[in-house]
Amino acid sequence: MKGVILVGGSGSRLDPLTRVTNKHLLPIYDKPMVFYPIQALVNAGITDIMLVTGGNNAGDFLRLLGNGSDFGLKRLHYTYQDRPAGIAHALGLTRDFADGDSLLLMLGDNIIEGNLLQARRNFEAQGQGARVVLTQVENPASYGVVEIENDRITSITEKPANPKSNLVQTGIYFYDERVFDVVSKLQPSGRGELEITDVNNHYLQAGNLEYDILKGFWADCGESFEMYLESQNLVATHGANKLNF
Ligand code: G1P
Repeated sequence: MKGVILVGGSGSRLDPLTRVTNKHLLPIYDKPMVFYPIQALVNAGITDIMLVTGGNNAGDFLRLLGNGSDFGLKRLHYTYQDRPAGIAHALGLTRDFADGDSLLLMLGDNIIEGNLLQARRNFEAQGQGARVVLTQVENPASYGVVEIENDRITSITEKPANPKSNLVQTGIYFYDERVFDVVSKLQPSGRGELEITDVNNHYLQAGNLEYDILKGFWADCGESFEMYLESQNLVATHGANKLNF
């Protein structure tokens, strides 16, 4: 399995912090934000990783991370998204890198207390399809909201006005190699982006979307200044990428 981490975007919700640098280079307690998702993938045994960057200061990732030797990697791969066209569009840029392997996709502003190794094993046992990692939040209307009946996902709705549950998709997704065919058939949403929720709904309709529920905290550091601050307090208090589940 290979890993993809998205570190593009304008970071407008953290303006002016992101006016001259990329959001994923900002500090979270004692490390740059991007260190946390890389460590999460490495802890799940994934050592072949591509970063998709874009927007400001793409070259700074090379200076900061080089070949990933701080994380025990032999090399890191990089590609560039030249316009903010959505998470699924960014994923589509990694097709040649994936080269027929399955993928773990993680958004670069997501920090978890837990370890993704069990979710990876569950996905491998699943054999094909997609697997989403879920968590409960107090403000589900800001996310992709998931409904579950009899242990099966029955719907995923992107940022609904009236959420039917407080269970949401985190920015952590497992896909089989067919995901690139799914992405290539997507149409842009109302916000002009290729939505990862549309990819997941495709797998849901095909009957092969599974899920895990995260243990420990999930921080979406780029969501607001409040979350940016809270994520640093969570990391300082509890640490990241360690809890087994
Ligand atoms: C994206 C997804 C959403 C998911 C969220 C997790 O939202 O579209 O379903 O819950 O990531 O961070 P966005 O960050 O594009 O608003």
